[in-house]
Amino acid sequence: MSYLDVIVFCILISAKCCSQDVVFPSWFKFGAASAAYQIEGGWNASDKGESMWDKLLHTQPRVAADGANGDVACDSYHLWRRDIEMCVELGLELYRFSISWPRLLPSGFPNHISEDGKNYYNNLINGLLEKGIEPVVTLYHFDLPQSLQDLGGWANPLIADWFADYARVVFTLYGDRVKTWLTLNEPFGICDVGYNLQQAPYLNDTEVGRYLCNKNTMLAHAKAWRLYQEEFKPRYHGKVSLSTLFIWYEPLTPDDKEVTELTIEHWEGRYAHPIFSKEGGWPPRIQQFLDNAAKKEGYHRPRLPTFTAEEIELVRGTYDFYGLNHYTTRKVRKAKFGEEIESWPFYGSKELGIVLENDRSWPLGSVDWFAMYPEGLWKQLHWLKDTYGVQEILITENGYVNVDDDLNDWKRMKYIRDNLEQIQYAIEDGINVTGYIHWTLMDNFEWLAGYKVNFGLYAVNFTDPERKRTPRESARYYSKVTRGRSYDYLHVGLYE
Ligand code: GAL
Repeated sequence: MSYLDVIVFCILISAKCCSQDVVFPSWFKFGAASAAYQIEGGWNASDKGESMWDKLLHTQPRVAADGANGDVACDSYHLWRRDIEMCVELGLELYRFSISWPRLLPSGFPNHISEDGKNYYNNLINGLLEKGIEPVVTLYHFDLPQSLQDLGGWANPLIADWFADYARVVFTLYGDRVKTWLTLNEPFGICDVGYNLQQAPYLNDTEVGRYLCNKNTMLAHAKAWRLYQEEFKPRYHGKVSLSTLFIWYEPLTPDDKEVTELTIEHWEGRYAHPIFSKEGGWPPRIQQFLDNAAKKEGYHRPRLPTFTAEEIELVRGTYDFYGLNHYTTRKVRKAKFGEEIESWPFYGSKELGIVLENDRSWPLGSVDWFAMYPEGLWKQLHWLKDTYGVQEILITENGYVNVDDDLNDWKRMKYIRDNLEQIQYAIEDGINVTGYIHWTLMDNFEWLAGYKVNFGLYAVNFTDPERKRTPRESARYYSKVTRGRSYDYLHVGLYE
């Protein structure tokens, strides 16, 4: 037995000793997630249009690690049957995937619907349903048609209508079978990351573009939600929300409490408050903060564009549940005078004059910003309930990043176990968490990190033309969880 095996063994034994055989309620659903550009490949199959990721990585191949791109990725465009099989092996009740806008609407507009694109998603949806797995469908997971990016993309206010037109096509085609919809994945990623040279469209426009994008994503989501409500809900009775990235933040010292609240408003509030708060609009403290900053910088208008009273009403309350992507927790402290502030991977720290740290007592995952602090999820669920009064929360992403592709990914298992435990506690506290969707089904194209890091329950061999998928130990563990409806299976599988 190696040193590592001994440690693993001890952790597993202690997990087993503490085991209380907690069973999740029957209505709680387990799932896994993926996203079109990260897995599909088939970038120019049939009449598919170019996405902004295709354009970025074909014209600036050095942007992603090792010059990687999603041209083939996991080749799910051809291997979707195997993906469904994996969902079955895992015992999933939900499979979250996204639709590629340019695959379905090659021009970006509904003047032409791709037959091939339409069939691809029909096959996937039907295949899942035949196996009793519910599709959870994201309309937009970062892959804008390049044609629309050329027209200004998310900085152009017309995008709210373009998005609603696209949403209408999707709801019309698949609304009879899909009952859970996410309009946008992480508008924070679309805007704060995409306009900070860390994601397509790979623009360096954190002062203005990012905030135009922020407002337009809110309007686009709201228009799609309202149109479902009016035109589709009476027939199909589905639910619509969006996935919001929510890293939990805690003050390092009592003195950092105020700046932590501002941080939460900056990172999360700008994308949640307009939709989920009772009063709607921007979170007031960050709006004030950014307006003051803009004045000092000589701008004549707020950089965070003001909502009109009608727009506030348009966006407010446009949700049927809260879709939460949670990964980790950070401690916030005010920067010391003259201290250098890094803004990767947590954007905007400079703007707020803060430093994000890890608590020394929290174990780190395989990268230095990824703390294993599951209690953060529990706190966040409470915060969402207390702040917005949300009545239903679906965890739409939660997952563990690894830098080696070891099949024995015991830290991932521990991460899943501990996060599920906190969800269970939150449910016991009366918070209605209705499901857990793990990120991700299999290793895939992890944006600018390419294929260098992995989040998958299944490993994918990216040098094999067949893109063979192999279950990791975490897949075995998770399939026990989904079938036994309990997280207390850490002892199973490893030594079988
Ligand atoms: C999320 C994103 C996913 C995936 C994940 C892991 O923010 O929605 O596409 O990349 O992070 O980094």
